[in-house]
Amino acid sequence: MSLRPIIIAVDGPAGSGKSSICAAAAQKLGWMTLNTGMIYRAAAYVGVIRKVIEPQKGPKSPQVFRVDELAMGRLARELAQDLKWDSSKQGLEWQGKLLGSDLDDPTIAGAASLIAKMAGVREALLDIQRTLALAAPRGIFVDGRDIGTVVFPDAELKIFFTATLEVRAKRRLDQLSGPTSGAEVALEEIRNAIAYRDHQDQSRQSAPLKKADDAVEFDTSLWSFDESVEQLIALIQKLNLC
Ligand code: DC
Repeated sequence: MSLRPIIIAVDGPAGSGKSSICAAAAQKLGWMTLNTGMIYRAAAYVGVIRKVIEPQKGPKSPQVFRVDELAMGRLARELAQDLKWDSSKQGLEWQGKLLGSDLDDPTIAGAASLIAKMAGVREALLDIQRTLALAAPRGIFVDGRDIGTVVFPDAELKIFFTATLEVRAKRRLDQLSGPTSGAEVALEEIRNAIAYRDHQDQSRQSAPLKKADDAVEFDTSLWSFDESVEQLIALIQKLNLC
């Protein structure tokens, strides 16, 4: 008998709602989640702290960084030894400390997307994603960009989340600041940053963001958050996975 949990591999672009919708569905099902984007963000965060990644002066979007690629690969390997995932807090612990809002910083998101292009970094972070996910007792949503194609090509179900760029930018804005007056400029900035990250994530050579051939497409553009959670659970129930 296999002790492996049921793995739902969830991929999709930034702001498509993967992590938050899966977290709510997991809570209702008594399952776990693993947000692998946080692992890339953690690597970027530690890279910035250690000055292996240096944000350059200039336009905010797209922000330019200088990165020592070899040192970044080494750092990612070192980091992977020391990461724990707390599914209940939806957070990563590094050296016993919860990495919280630091990982939400747009500079860290931009740096994460950049280092995610590096084959050495991806290789260093692959095993830790599998190890953390396989520790789930029953079922787990693992979300990222290459979960169905690379990390868990044998997942029980693969889902590819989508939403229009406009909807994704608006959601990110609400997440970061709440609906405030004078937010037009910020919305434009967020839209540009997301479009740039989409391009970077989809066009890289190493494990680019793409829908696995056998993934179900899940477009959340027209659904509220609660409707998306209901649709996700309905899909899993229809396939008798819970
Ligand atoms: O999901 P997110 O925005 O927190 O992810 C941050 C970056 O990490 C994203 O731009 C691409 C990268 N990433 C990746 O390449 N592969 C994954 N499995 C998860 C994230």
